[in-house]
Amino acid sequence: MNAWRVWTAGPADAETLASLEALAFGGRSWGGDSVKESFVAPRVTVLLGGENVREPLGFAVWRDLGSEAELLTIGVVAPARGKGLGEALLSGVIRAAQDARAERCFLEVDALNETAAALYKKAGFTPVGERRRYYADGGDAVVMALDL
Ligand SMILES: CC(C)(COP(=O)(O)OP(=O)(O)OC[C@H]1O[C@@H](n2cnc3c(N)ncnc32)[C@H](O)[C@@H]1OP(=O)(O)O)[C@@H](O)C(=O)NCCC(=O)NCCS
Repeated sequence: MNAWRVWTAGPADAETLASLEALAFGGRSWGGDSVKESFVAPRVTVLLGGENVREPLGFAVWRDLGSEAELLTIGVVAPARGKGLGEALLSGVIRAAQDARAERCFLEVDALNETAAALYKKAGFTPVGERRRYYADGGDAVVMALDL
């Protein structure tokens, strides 16, 4: 198993985040400008991950809402998938949210995205609700939560 590193990104990583997000999500990308706003949005933190800081292969973006934390997006480039990086990034978010004294972490996941749902379930998230027609293409989302 790879020894993944996860680190906090800064505004200088905006282009890197935008290209990783486009690679990970393809046609369902937020788009470069939107994803770059993560660096100026209040209480939002971007984590990057990879074998070393010179070559990030995945990202996670979360928001500190006080007693709650929200995972906004997470992705790993296709060639690096299935090797634990998604899990390492999600653990990084959970740790950071615990450090920020959040009591609960929640997220929305596409109801058809079984891969992501499996990642979240493995980390202990459970379904707590649904949001009908949540996505721009009309897809439903499942809300999942984890008590920290
Ligand atoms: C979801 C995603 C981030 C997972 O990253 P990853 O690095 O491949 O995941 P990991 O290797 O850490 O896998 C962790 C767990 O996730 C689940 N998982 C990962 N890939 C899976 C697959 N192809 N099928 C089913 N479950 C899978 C498993 O439970 C796995 O644990 P296991 O290896 O013990 O079985 C990655 O597939 C991705 O970037 N997908 C496209 C973007 C996306 O859908 N993001 C989430 C929506 S916001």
